[in-house]
Amino acid sequence: MRVILLGAPGAGKGTQARFITEKFGIPQISTGDMLRAAVKAGSPLGLKVKGVMESGGLVSDDIIIDLIKERITQPDCAKGFLFDGFPRTIPQAEALREAGVDIDNVLEIAVDDEEIVGRLSGRRVHAASGRVYHTEHNPPKEAGKDDHTGEELIQREDDKEETVRHRLSVYHSQTKPLVDFYKKLAAETGKPKYSCVEGIGSVEEITAKVLAALG
Ligand code: AP5
Ligand code: ZN
Repeated sequence: MRVILLGAPGAGKGTQARFITEKFGIPQISTGDMLRAAVKAGSPLGLKVKGVMESGGLVSDDIIIDLIKERITQPDCAKGFLFDGFPRTIPQAEALREAGVDIDNVLEIAVDDEEIVGRLSGRRVHAASGRVYHTEHNPPKEAGKDDHTGEELIQREDDKEETVRHRLSVYHSQTKPLVDFYKKLAAETGKPKYSCVEGIGSVEEITAKVLAALG
């Protein structure tokens, strides 16, 4: 199964991705996590993208498309995958189609902008695994520590309020148009199945809606 998870920054894509990948036995492909790992490692890719990521802008389509094309040829993608944070622009979605990658499901998690600012200011992440917590809504068992490894949690560079607002405006102008792109494609070709779930409520409630939408 090949799934695209759509939604604004902080909508809960990374949080819900975990349950989808467990249920369907497919890997999560988060371009954000891949790029953050490159920044942390100080690789040539990391050095190239660090500034634009910290400012909340988008990395160039060419870089992202190369990264994805390479990733989906890995053996763990044979049964499918879950894209989290990709595609992010119409040219990225078109490149995916040109590469002959058929998507089965596009699932949007919808959350209002005002809720998002609060969510991202309380977000804490385990950098090595991508596990996500929230100081109030989804706290780790021990404050500041990852549940599985006990390692320190960090705050993302791009979770400052003004950067979050910029990311939201980039989302509305560049990424939100993908909803109509995929609806139109579904009407013309019968694929992918498009669904939207309301992303407000407990993590468990949203997981139930997400899994139901994916069948
Ligand atoms: P990326 O890492 O993809 O960030 P994003 O899309 O901005 O999304 P987030 O990771 O911030 O949010 P999320 O939806 O995963 O929410 P989460 O589950 O963590 O991209 C980062 C940057 O990389 C981009 O700005 C860009 O520079 C670059 N980039 C990446 N992909 C790119 C691409 N394709 N093209 C170009 N550039 C690209 O949840 C958020 C918080 O809310 C957490 O604290 C969580 O615990 C909490 N939470 C979750 N669910 C709930 C709930 N139901 N109730 C209350 N709180 C909740
Ligand atoms: Zn994420």
